[in-house]
Amino acid sequence: MCGIVAYIGPKQASPILIKGLQRLEYRGYDSSGISLINDTGELNLYKKKGKVAELQEYIGDKDTTGTIGIGHTRWATHGVPSDINAHPHTSESKSKVIIHNGIIENYGPLKEELIKRGHTFESDTDTEVLIHLIEDVQDKTGATLVESVRIALTQAIGAYAIVIMSKENPNQLVAAKKGSPLVVGIGNGEFFLASDATPIVEYTKNVVYLEDEQIAILNRNEELKIITVGNVAITPYIHELELNLEAIEKGGYEHFMIKEIHEQPKSILDSLRGRINLEDGIVTMGGLQEYDARFNKAKRIIIVACGTSWHAGLVAEYLIEDLARIPVEVEYASEFRYRNPILSEKDIVMAISQSGETADTLAAIELAKSKGALIYGVCNVVGSSIARATHAGSYTHAGPEIGVASTKAFTAQVTVLTLIALSLAHKRGTMGETEYRTLIADLLSIPEKVEKALKTDEQIRYLAEEFKNSPNFLYLGRGYNFPVALEGALKLKEISYIHAEGYPAAEMKHGPIALIDEQMPVVVIATKKGNYEKIISNIQEVKARKGIIIAVVTEGDTEVRKMADHVIEVPETEEATSPLVTVVPLQLLSYHIAVLRGCNVDQPRNLAKSVTVE
Ligand code: G6P
Repeated sequence: MCGIVAYIGPKQASPILIKGLQRLEYRGYDSSGISLINDTGELNLYKKKGKVAELQEYIGDKDTTGTIGIGHTRWATHGVPSDINAHPHTSESKSKVIIHNGIIENYGPLKEELIKRGHTFESDTDTEVLIHLIEDVQDKTGATLVESVRIALTQAIGAYAIVIMSKENPNQLVAAKKGSPLVVGIGNGEFFLASDATPIVEYTKNVVYLEDEQIAILNRNEELKIITVGNVAITPYIHELELNLEAIEKGGYEHFMIKEIHEQPKSILDSLRGRINLEDGIVTMGGLQEYDARFNKAKRIIIVACGTSWHAGLVAEYLIEDLARIPVEVEYASEFRYRNPILSEKDIVMAISQSGETADTLAAIELAKSKGALIYGVCNVVGSSIARATHAGSYTHAGPEIGVASTKAFTAQVTVLTLIALSLAHKRGTMGETEYRTLIADLLSIPEKVEKALKTDEQIRYLAEEFKNSPNFLYLGRGYNFPVALEGALKLKEISYIHAEGYPAAEMKHGPIALIDEQMPVVVIATKKGNYEKIISNIQEVKARKGIIIAVVTEGDTEVRKMADHVIEVPETEEATSPLVTVVPLQLLSYHIAVLRGCNVDQPRNLAKSVTVE
C-alpha cells in the first residue's frame, strides 16, 4: 500500500505534498515524510513515525521551501514503523531520494551485494536498497539518472511505484511503476505524481495512468516523456478526470465513514442508473453484452476477492445460483492464487474490488487469464489496475470511498451483482416473468428503503452506548444474510477493535454457542422473507443461554420483538435484495461503537484501504 505524491513546477511544493499526503493517508499511516530541494540546491528531508499531522508538527518552521519535492505515507511491510524506516530514503551519497509503494522481493541478495561493494544502510527497508542500487549503477556506468533507474529496474524483482529526485538535477523527477498504481497529473508548466488522482484533481484534470514497466521523465518546462524499462519510447495517453473535489472531502460530516454510510441511497441509485429500462424492465449491463454467449454457456463462475468485496462475492453466490442457476464458487484471492486451481477456457472468473488495486486479486486474475478463463471485473475505481486487467466488467458507481472500512462500496457492489444476476437470469430464462418483475421493482425501491434504514441512526447510537464495552460480539444470519453477518462482524472488528464473529445462524450450535452467556450481545438478522421461522428458532437457542439479542427485523414485526432484547426495524424487501438494507444498521452500530470508544474510525490501526502487497 503506501501513498506517494510528488510535484515539480513553479509553485511551492510543500503545501501540495502535505495536502496530497493527507488525501492519501487512507493508503497507510504508520509514518510519513517529505523531501524538497530549495532554491539554493539544498536537499531537505523530514520524516516521522505516525500520521501526517505528526510530521507537520515535527517540521514546524524548518525550511520547506522548494518547487520540487516528493512525499510518502507508509503502511509498513519491511521494517517496523519508525522514523528511520519512514520514506523518503536516501542513496549512499545522500544526494538522491526515493519514495516507493510496493515490495522489492529480491532486496536481500541485492543488499548483500551492495554491502560487499561498500554500501551502508540505515533502515530495514527494501526501498533503501533500490536507491542505493540506482546510485551504484550510475557510479559504475556514468549513465544519466533516467538510464540508471532503467538499468536498476531490470535487476529488481517485485512491485513498485517509485519517484526519485536527485540533488544533481533539481529540474527533474523520475518515476516508474510495476504492480502498484501511479498517476501523472499534467498542469500548466507543472507535473504532479500520485498513487491515485485525489491529490491531483484540485490542480488539473489531465492525467496519464502509467502502465507497468513504464518510466516517466518529468523535466521542468518540458513535455512529459515516457519510456519502458526495455527502453522503448511511449506516447502518453492523456485522460480527463471525472472526479470532483467535493466527493473527496468530508462535506460537514465528522468522519468519512459516516458520510459514506449516508451516501448509500445515492451510490446505489448511481449504480442502478441507466441499467434498467423502466418500460420493459430489461436489465442491460454494457460489459456483459459482448460476452453473452460465453456467460450463457458458462459451467460455473468463480468469484475472487478480498475483505468486504469477498463478502459481496458471497452475496453474489446466492444471487447468481438462486436467480440464474449458474454454479458459483467464491474464493479468497490470496488462497486461490496459490492453490493450483483447476481452470479452463470454459470458466468465468469474476473479480470484485473497490480499489481495483488489491495485489492478491490482481494476481488471481493473471493466473486465471493464463489458463484461458474469461475475466469479468466489478470495480469502483475507474482506470484502476484490476479494471484494466479484466476482459470486460461493470463499474460500481459508489464514488470515491475514503474511510478505510468499506461501506458504500459494498452496497454498490451488491447492487451491480444483483443486476448481473438478473440480466443472466432473464437471458437464460431461469426466472418467471412475475418473479423477475417483482425483483426489479424491489431493486428500484432500494435507495428509498436505505434512506429509511438510515433513520435508525439515533436509536443505534443509544445501543452503541449500552454495548460499547462488550469484549465480544456474535453476528448471525441465514441465506442471503449470512454474508451480511460476516460483514457486520468485520466492520466492528476493523474500527472498534472488539472481537466479533459472523456465523451462519444454524451453524452456531456447532461451536460458537459455547461462547454465549448473559454478557454476550448477539446481533441477529431476522427479516421476514427467507428462513424466518428457522432464524426464530436460532434466536430461541441464544435466549435459552441468556445471550442478549439485538435483532434487525422487518418493520412491524411482532414475533421477534417478543424474544429480542432490542429490535432495529428496517423496511420490507424481497429476500434477494435484503442485504442492501440489513447491512445499514450494522454499519451504523460499528461506527457509533468505535466513535464512543475513541477509536480513529477513518484510519483504524494496522489497516489500509488499498492493499497493494500480498
Ligand atoms: C482492505 C480494505 C477493505 C477491503 C479489502 C479489499 O483490506 O481495508 O475495506 O474490503 O482491502 O479491497 P478491494 O479494494 O479489493 O475491494
